[in-house]
Amino acid sequence: MDNRPIGVFDSGLGGLTAVQALRELLPDENIIYFGDTARMPYGTKTVKQLRQMALQDMELLAERGVKAIIAACGTVSSTAADVLSSFHLPVFNVVDASVRAMAETQGSGPLGVIATRASIESGVFKRRITQLAPEKKVIAVPCQSFVELIESGHSDADDPQVQKCVAESLQPLRDQNISALLLGCTHFGYLSEAISGYLGDDVKLVSASYCAAKSMSSYLKARAMTGGTGRVQYCTSGDVRDFSQNASRLMGRNIAPLVSAVTPMEVDKL
Ligand code: DGL
Repeated sequence: MDNRPIGVFDSGLGGLTAVQALRELLPDENIIYFGDTARMPYGTKTVKQLRQMALQDMELLAERGVKAIIAACGTVSSTAADVLSSFHLPVFNVVDASVRAMAETQGSGPLGVIATRASIESGVFKRRITQLAPEKKVIAVPCQSFVELIESGHSDADDPQVQKCVAESLQPLRDQNISALLLGCTHFGYLSEAISGYLGDDVKLVSASYCAAKSMSSYLKARAMTGGTGRVQYCTSGDVRDFSQNASRLMGRNIAPLVSAVTPMEVDKL
Protein backbone atom coordinates (compact mmCIF):
# COMPACT_ATOMS: atom_id res chain seq x y z
CA MET A 1 0.00 0.00 0.00
CA ASP A 2 1.45 3.34 -1.07
CA ASN A 3 -0.70 6.45 -0.73
CA ARG A 4 1.67 8.79 -2.53
CA PRO A 5 0.18 10.31 -5.70
CA ILE A 6 0.95 9.38 -9.29
CA GLY A 7 2.43 12.26 -11.29
CA VAL A 8 1.36 12.93 -14.88
CA PHE A 9 2.70 15.68 -17.13
CA ASP A 10 2.31 17.05 -20.64
CA SER A 11 2.68 20.32 -22.53
CA GLY A 12 -0.89 21.36 -21.82
CA LEU A 13 -4.23 19.59 -21.94
CA GLY A 14 -3.28 16.40 -23.82
CA GLY A 15 -2.06 14.44 -20.84
CA LEU A 16 -5.53 14.71 -19.31
CA THR A 17 -6.40 11.74 -21.54
CA ALA A 18 -3.93 9.74 -19.41
CA VAL A 19 -5.49 11.09 -16.21
CA GLN A 20 -8.91 9.94 -17.42
CA ALA A 21 -7.54 6.50 -18.27
CA LEU A 22 -5.86 6.23 -14.85
CA ARG A 23 -9.10 7.19 -13.09
CA GLU A 24 -10.91 4.47 -14.98
CA LEU A 25 -8.27 1.82 -14.20
CA LEU A 26 -7.23 2.94 -10.69
CA PRO A 27 -10.08 5.05 -9.28
CA ASP A 28 -8.60 5.22 -5.75
CA GLU A 29 -5.24 6.64 -6.76
CA ASN A 30 -4.29 10.21 -5.94
CA ILE A 31 -2.98 12.01 -9.03
CA ILE A 32 -1.07 15.25 -9.59
CA TYR A 33 -1.25 16.57 -13.15
CA PHE A 34 1.14 19.18 -14.51
CA GLY A 35 0.18 20.93 -17.77
CA ASP A 36 3.13 23.00 -18.98
CA THR A 37 0.89 25.37 -20.93
CA ALA A 38 3.34 28.28 -20.81
CA ARG A 39 5.74 26.28 -23.00
CA MET A 40 3.15 24.61 -25.21
CA PRO A 41 3.50 23.31 -27.90
CA TYR A 42 6.27 20.79 -27.30
CA GLY A 43 6.09 19.34 -30.82
CA THR A 44 7.92 22.29 -32.37
CA LYS A 45 10.79 22.40 -29.85
CA THR A 46 14.32 21.09 -30.46
CA VAL A 47 15.37 17.71 -29.06
CA LYS A 48 17.80 19.47 -26.72
CA GLN A 49 15.00 21.64 -25.32
CA LEU A 50 12.64 18.69 -24.98
CA ARG A 51 15.19 16.70 -22.98
CA GLN A 52 15.70 19.63 -20.62
CA MET A 53 11.96 20.24 -20.27
CA ALA A 54 11.25 16.57 -19.58
CA LEU A 55 13.70 16.62 -16.69
CA GLN A 56 12.27 19.86 -15.28
CA ASP A 57 8.71 18.51 -15.48
CA MET A 58 9.67 15.30 -13.69
CA GLU A 59 11.57 17.21 -11.00
CA LEU A 60 8.53 19.40 -10.38
CA LEU A 61 6.39 16.30 -9.79
CA ALA A 62 9.08 14.58 -7.70
CA GLU A 63 9.19 17.63 -5.40
CA ARG A 64 5.49 17.06 -4.81
CA GLY A 65 6.15 13.56 -3.54
CA VAL A 66 4.85 11.36 -6.37
CA LYS A 67 5.60 7.61 -6.36
CA ALA A 68 5.70 7.15 -10.15
CA ILE A 69 5.24 9.30 -13.26
CA ILE A 70 3.53 9.05 -16.63
CA ALA A 71 5.26 11.20 -19.23
CA ALA A 72 1.92 11.69 -20.99
CA CYS A 73 3.56 13.25 -23.98
CA GLY A 74 4.46 11.45 -27.19
CA THR A 75 6.99 14.15 -27.98
CA VAL A 76 9.20 13.73 -24.90
CA SER A 77 8.58 9.97 -24.95
CA SER A 78 10.06 9.73 -28.45
CA THR A 79 12.90 12.23 -28.06
CA ALA A 80 14.00 11.83 -24.42
CA ALA A 81 13.35 8.17 -23.58
CA ASP A 82 16.72 7.80 -21.83
CA VAL A 83 16.11 10.94 -19.75
CA LEU A 84 12.81 9.43 -18.59
CA SER A 85 14.17 5.95 -17.88
CA SER A 86 17.20 7.20 -15.91
CA PHE A 87 15.08 9.32 -13.52
CA HIS A 88 15.12 8.25 -9.87
CA LEU A 89 11.40 7.31 -9.89
CA PRO A 90 9.57 4.79 -12.12
CA VAL A 91 8.55 6.68 -15.28
CA PHE A 92 6.18 5.36 -17.95
CA ASN A 93 6.40 6.78 -21.45
CA VAL A 94 3.60 6.61 -24.04
CA VAL A 95 5.61 4.77 -26.70
CA ASP A 96 6.54 1.35 -25.26
CA ALA A 97 3.07 -0.08 -24.61
CA SER A 98 1.34 1.65 -27.53
CA VAL A 99 3.70 0.31 -30.21
CA ARG A 100 3.13 -3.21 -28.81
CA ALA A 101 -0.64 -2.70 -28.95
CA MET A 102 -0.38 -1.47 -32.54
CA ALA A 103 1.74 -4.43 -33.62
CA GLU A 104 -0.88 -6.77 -32.15
CA THR A 105 -3.86 -5.25 -34.00
CA GLN A 106 -5.61 -7.50 -36.49
CA GLY A 107 -6.45 -6.27 -39.95
CA SER A 108 -4.98 -6.49 -43.41
CA GLY A 109 -4.33 -2.81 -44.17
CA PRO A 110 -1.26 -0.71 -43.36
CA LEU A 111 -0.84 0.78 -39.88
CA GLY A 112 -1.06 4.54 -39.40
CA VAL A 113 0.64 6.71 -36.79
CA ILE A 114 -0.16 10.34 -36.09
CA ALA A 115 1.80 12.48 -33.64
CA THR A 116 3.51 15.85 -33.34
CA ARG A 117 6.14 17.11 -35.72
CA ALA A 118 9.06 16.30 -33.38
CA SER A 119 7.70 12.79 -32.66
CA ILE A 120 7.32 11.92 -36.34
CA GLU A 121 10.73 13.44 -37.17
CA SER A 122 12.31 11.22 -34.50
CA GLY A 123 11.06 8.17 -36.44
CA VAL A 124 10.63 6.30 -33.15
CA PHE A 125 6.98 5.19 -33.43
CA LYS A 126 7.42 3.90 -36.99
CA ARG A 127 10.73 2.16 -36.25
CA ARG A 128 9.44 0.45 -33.10
CA ILE A 129 6.24 -0.82 -34.75
CA THR A 130 8.20 -2.08 -37.77
CA GLN A 131 10.56 -3.99 -35.45
CA LEU A 132 7.59 -5.74 -33.85
CA ALA A 133 5.53 -6.27 -37.03
CA PRO A 134 8.00 -6.30 -39.95
CA GLU A 135 5.35 -7.60 -42.34
CA LYS A 136 3.28 -4.44 -41.90
CA LYS A 137 3.56 -1.21 -43.82
CA VAL A 138 3.60 1.72 -41.36
CA ILE A 139 2.62 5.22 -42.46
CA ALA A 140 3.50 8.06 -40.07
CA VAL A 141 1.99 11.50 -40.52
CA PRO A 142 2.64 14.64 -38.43
CA CYS A 143 -0.51 16.41 -37.23
CA GLN A 144 0.92 19.29 -35.20
CA SER A 145 -2.08 21.51 -36.01
CA PHE A 146 -4.36 19.19 -33.97
CA VAL A 147 -2.58 20.33 -30.78
CA GLU A 148 -3.39 24.02 -31.29
CA LEU A 149 -6.93 23.06 -32.30
CA ILE A 150 -7.57 21.33 -28.98
CA GLU A 151 -5.77 23.93 -26.89
CA SER A 152 -7.92 26.63 -28.49
CA GLY A 153 -11.15 24.88 -27.55
CA HIS A 154 -11.95 22.94 -30.73
CA SER A 155 -12.50 19.21 -30.35
CA ASP A 156 -16.16 18.50 -31.12
CA ALA A 157 -16.71 16.15 -34.06
CA ASP A 158 -19.33 18.48 -35.56
CA ASP A 159 -17.13 21.59 -35.34
CA PRO A 160 -16.40 22.62 -38.99
CA GLN A 161 -12.86 23.72 -38.08
CA VAL A 162 -12.17 20.27 -36.60
CA GLN A 163 -13.65 18.47 -39.60
CA LYS A 164 -11.57 20.54 -42.04
CA CYS A 165 -8.34 20.03 -40.14
CA VAL A 166 -8.92 16.28 -39.67
CA ALA A 167 -9.76 15.77 -43.35
CA GLU A 168 -6.75 17.76 -44.56
CA SER A 169 -4.30 15.90 -42.34
CA LEU A 170 -5.68 12.37 -42.55
CA GLN A 171 -6.47 12.10 -46.25
CA PRO A 172 -3.19 10.23 -47.02
CA LEU A 173 -4.12 7.64 -44.39
CA ARG A 174 -7.67 7.26 -45.66
CA ASP A 175 -6.37 6.86 -49.22
CA GLN A 176 -4.16 3.96 -48.08
CA ASN A 177 -7.00 2.12 -46.29
CA ILE A 178 -5.22 1.76 -42.97
CA SER A 179 -6.66 -0.81 -40.57
CA ALA A 180 -5.46 0.81 -37.32
CA LEU A 181 -4.25 4.23 -36.23
CA LEU A 182 -2.01 5.03 -33.28
CA LEU A 183 -2.84 8.32 -31.59
CA GLY A 184 0.80 8.99 -30.72
CA CYS A 185 0.12 12.44 -29.30
CA THR A 186 -1.90 12.46 -26.10
CA HIS A 187 -3.94 15.45 -27.22
CA PHE A 188 -5.40 13.47 -30.10
CA GLY A 189 -7.63 11.33 -27.89
CA TYR A 190 -9.92 14.35 -27.72
CA LEU A 191 -10.40 14.12 -31.50
CA SER A 192 -11.23 10.38 -31.52
CA GLU A 193 -14.83 10.93 -32.55
CA ALA A 194 -13.90 13.30 -35.38
CA ILE A 195 -11.11 10.96 -36.54
CA SER A 196 -13.39 7.89 -36.54
CA GLY A 197 -16.05 9.96 -38.30
CA TYR A 198 -13.58 10.68 -41.11
CA LEU A 199 -11.73 7.33 -41.35
CA GLY A 200 -14.71 5.10 -40.55
CA ASP A 201 -15.42 2.94 -37.51
CA ASP A 202 -13.54 -0.02 -39.00
CA VAL A 203 -10.22 1.69 -38.36
CA LYS A 204 -9.16 0.74 -34.84
CA LEU A 205 -7.82 3.68 -32.83
CA VAL A 206 -5.05 2.90 -30.33
CA SER A 207 -4.61 5.48 -27.59
CA ALA A 208 -1.01 5.99 -26.43
CA SER A 209 -2.37 7.49 -23.19
CA TYR A 210 -4.54 4.50 -22.36
CA CYS A 211 -1.69 2.06 -23.09
CA ALA A 212 0.65 3.93 -20.72
CA ALA A 213 -2.00 4.09 -17.98
CA LYS A 214 -2.55 0.35 -18.33
CA SER A 215 1.19 -0.31 -17.92
CA MET A 216 1.28 1.90 -14.85
CA SER A 217 -1.72 0.10 -13.39
CA SER A 218 -0.14 -3.36 -13.87
CA TYR A 219 3.17 -2.14 -12.42
CA LEU A 220 1.65 -0.68 -9.25
CA LYS A 221 -0.66 -3.65 -8.68
CA ALA A 222 2.17 -6.18 -9.12
CA ARG A 223 4.23 -4.37 -6.46
CA ALA A 224 1.36 -3.67 -4.02
CA MET A 225 2.03 0.03 -4.62
CA THR A 226 -1.58 1.09 -5.15
CA GLY A 227 -3.49 3.19 -2.61
CA GLY A 228 -5.06 6.61 -2.16
CA THR A 229 -8.36 8.40 -1.82
CA GLY A 230 -9.04 9.26 -5.47
CA ARG A 231 -7.92 12.87 -5.05
CA VAL A 232 -6.78 14.61 -8.26
CA GLN A 233 -4.94 17.94 -8.30
CA TYR A 234 -3.98 19.93 -11.38
CA CYS A 235 -1.33 22.59 -11.87
CA THR A 236 -0.38 24.65 -14.88
CA SER A 237 2.41 27.01 -15.86
CA GLY A 238 -0.11 28.91 -17.99
CA ASP A 239 -3.24 30.89 -17.15
CA VAL A 240 -5.16 29.08 -14.41
CA ARG A 241 -8.58 30.27 -15.59
CA ASP A 242 -8.03 29.24 -19.21
CA PHE A 243 -6.65 25.87 -18.16
CA SER A 244 -9.56 25.28 -15.77
CA GLN A 245 -12.16 26.13 -18.39
CA ASN A 246 -10.59 24.04 -21.15
CA ALA A 247 -9.80 21.08 -18.92
CA SER A 248 -13.30 21.10 -17.41
CA ARG A 249 -14.87 21.10 -20.86
CA LEU A 250 -12.68 18.26 -22.10
CA MET A 251 -13.17 16.14 -18.97
CA GLY A 252 -16.87 16.85 -18.67
CA ARG A 253 -16.77 18.09 -15.06
CA ASN A 254 -15.78 21.25 -13.23
CA ILE A 255 -12.21 20.89 -12.00
CA ALA A 256 -11.60 24.64 -11.42
CA PRO A 257 -11.30 24.36 -7.59
CA LEU A 258 -8.53 21.77 -8.01
CA VAL A 259 -6.24 23.84 -10.27
CA SER A 260 -3.25 25.84 -9.05
CA ALA A 261 -0.46 27.85 -10.66
CA VAL A 262 3.18 26.88 -11.16
CA THR A 263 5.85 29.46 -12.01
CA PRO A 264 6.87 28.93 -15.66
CA MET A 265 10.29 27.33 -16.02
CA GLU A 266 13.13 28.58 -18.24
CA VAL A 267 14.47 26.55 -21.11
CA ASP A 268 17.70 27.16 -23.10
CA LYS A 269 17.20 28.73 -26.51
CA LEU A 270 18.78 25.84 -28.44
N1 DGL B 1 0.56 16.04 -26.07
C1 DGL B 1 1.95 16.08 -26.40
C2 DGL B 1 2.36 14.87 -27.18
O1 DGL B 1 1.83 13.82 -26.88
C3 DGL B 1 2.53 17.41 -26.80
C4 DGL B 1 1.88 18.14 -27.92
C5 DGL B 1 2.54 19.47 -28.16
O2 DGL B 1 2.62 20.27 -27.20
O3 DGL B 1 3.01 19.72 -29.28
O4 DGL B 1 3.21 14.87 -28.01
